[in-house]
Amino acid sequence: MAKQTFYITTPIYYPSDRLHIGHAYCTTVADAIARYKRLADYDVFFLTGSDEHGQKIERKAREAGVTPIEYVDKIVASFKNLWEKLLVSNDDFIRTTEVRHREVVQAIFQKIYEQGDIYKSAYEGWYCTPCETFWLERQLVDNKCPDCGRSVELLKEESYFFRMSKYQDRLLAYIEENPDFIQPTSRRNEMINFIKGGLEDLCVSRTTFDWGIPVPFDTKHVVYVWFDALTNYITAAGYLHDREKFAKYWPADIHLVGKEIVRFHSIIWPVILMALGVELPKMVYGHGWLVVEGDKMSKSKGNVIDPLALIEEFGADAIRYFLLREITLGLDGNFSRDALINRINADLANDLGNLLHRTLSMIGRFNGGVIEAPGEPEQIDRELAQLAQNTAAEYEKAMEQMDINGAIKTVWALISRTNKYIDETGPWALAKDPAKKERLNTVLYNLAETLRIVSILISPFTPATSPKIWAQLGIAGNFAAMRLSDAKSWGKLAAGTRVTKPEPIFPRIEDKPEPAAEAAPVAEAKPAPVVPVVPEVSIDEFAKMDLRVAKVVAAEKVQGADKLLKLEVDLGAERRTIVSGIAKHYAPEALVGRNVVMIVNLKPAKIRGIESRGMVLAASEGDKLVLVEAPEMPPGSKVK
Ligand code: ME8
Ligand code: MG
Repeated sequence: MAKQTFYITTPIYYPSDRLHIGHAYCTTVADAIARYKRLADYDVFFLTGSDEHGQKIERKAREAGVTPIEYVDKIVASFKNLWEKLLVSNDDFIRTTEVRHREVVQAIFQKIYEQGDIYKSAYEGWYCTPCETFWLERQLVDNKCPDCGRSVELLKEESYFFRMSKYQDRLLAYIEENPDFIQPTSRRNEMINFIKGGLEDLCVSRTTFDWGIPVPFDTKHVVYVWFDALTNYITAAGYLHDREKFAKYWPADIHLVGKEIVRFHSIIWPVILMALGVELPKMVYGHGWLVVEGDKMSKSKGNVIDPLALIEEFGADAIRYFLLREITLGLDGNFSRDALINRINADLANDLGNLLHRTLSMIGRFNGGVIEAPGEPEQIDRELAQLAQNTAAEYEKAMEQMDINGAIKTVWALISRTNKYIDETGPWALAKDPAKKERLNTVLYNLAETLRIVSILISPFTPATSPKIWAQLGIAGNFAAMRLSDAKSWGKLAAGTRVTKPEPIFPRIEDKPEPAAEAAPVAEAKPAPVVPVVPEVSIDEFAKMDLRVAKVVAAEKVQGADKLLKLEVDLGAERRTIVSGIAKHYAPEALVGRNVVMIVNLKPAKIRGIESRGMVLAASEGDKLVLVEAPEMPPGSKVK
């Protein structure tokens, strides 16, 4: 039987600049889903690419003193290099400057024109070049682009228009009848409201610059870059070129895009397809934005994070794992170096790395490196085997719902349980008693078997690490041939397998950067046993921190930062201003009058232009955060 197909896309990014961690995030999510679907035995087509035309790129090239194609060639090469280093498994990479794409764009423009849905008129209105978006005067906010807040330009030119208005009712009906079409639901509601506000015909050609695909029947016009770009998804699937391929993969299962471009994908794109009589994609999923240490990334702030540098420093799997584990798909997320290092140390080096290391070294020491056949299982063994099987099932359920985060958590719960299983079964004690050899074999087998299952389940997230675990376990056969079904059944590991010497898969990162001033300095608490996530300190080193009770006298939100509050605190002898990343957890008015605990000798930091002198302490776990308080103590009291 032919396999079920699965077609997933990322946005095609603009080669106007090098890509940053936000782009890497989106592509990593798409890659994890694509890899998961291959693991689930789907025939996957995973597409990414570059959106190379338009006024923005033309200007960038001019500034650089090169032709547009020279400009984009270089940057596109850097895209491809990044995806290779990040272990992205795309099946195709489409460039909108390719002939295959130009042919499709020209053919569909012609067809839609001939059927009367594209007509010539005059455009007079505003244009945001960074967003490549047309705006009406009434849509502007303070005369700026309502999406990005940057300046817009007045355009007045002859243009072709696409009769979007004609499709308004059909589109609305489609969205209402297909609840999964726009995800998550918050985005769907926004789009429904937008369409109900009325669809204007869209300007789909420009005459005041050249860098684009010529309108076939009127070559002084170039096709509007978004009309051109969206079409990539059918070009690459073989539309008009490869009938068989197109029939196989279209409609796409998921267009994964950032939340700012859901509108283009769920309004303009479906209307183009409706005009062509082509089926609509099954889902447009709008993911959230990554900020850096609580702040929007921008060149002017100099806080743009280069994913290549991170990969070089920490390795692709660590970066992938962090992005997938730390950020809940659909919500905005924060990138911080501190959190990255904590994740690497706690989850990868400690939980997973130690489990592998302990297992292999015990098999080496106690059993001469051979995984012996297990004996009769006891209750604790049956429970572990059951948990492993439940984990595979829960993981599958979570991944099918695009709950990547949830899937990872369920695997790490199994890893934690297995580490505990070592402590509870005590193999070192069993090894001392020859009468307990069979029991020892059972325990060691179960550890190796759990690791076999774990290595398969985590392979969409950490594709380089999984085969390494496999190799260290000494399992014969090709890891790439493993499927989800191999992770679902317990006992597939062949007795007699010979393990290798343990090699650390994720070395601990010892370098601790300065903690971010607005965040509490605690890693997400792990379930017991408590494993320190930072190196030991002496009592003298601890005493270097001046911790005091502070009374909150005023609190307000920081403009434009939804996580930050500005606090005025009374320390008895003086008052201070601090910025704290607790806005999601406390309303400002709820804080006034409380006695919190803060560190007063922390190096001051400028956050959103506000000098923050100190940091309040909080306990946090997952999404929960509670301030540390000392209600009875006078402001200024020492905490030690
Ligand atoms: O919009 N956090 O390209 P683009 C998370 N060419 N994701 C981010 C991000 C951030 N801070 N910044 C960017 C375009 N992204 C068009 C797309 S598709 C037919 C044409 C990701 O280079 C996110 O997925 O501006 C966003 O939608 C995409 O990059 C925008 O990339
Ligand atoms: Mg953009």
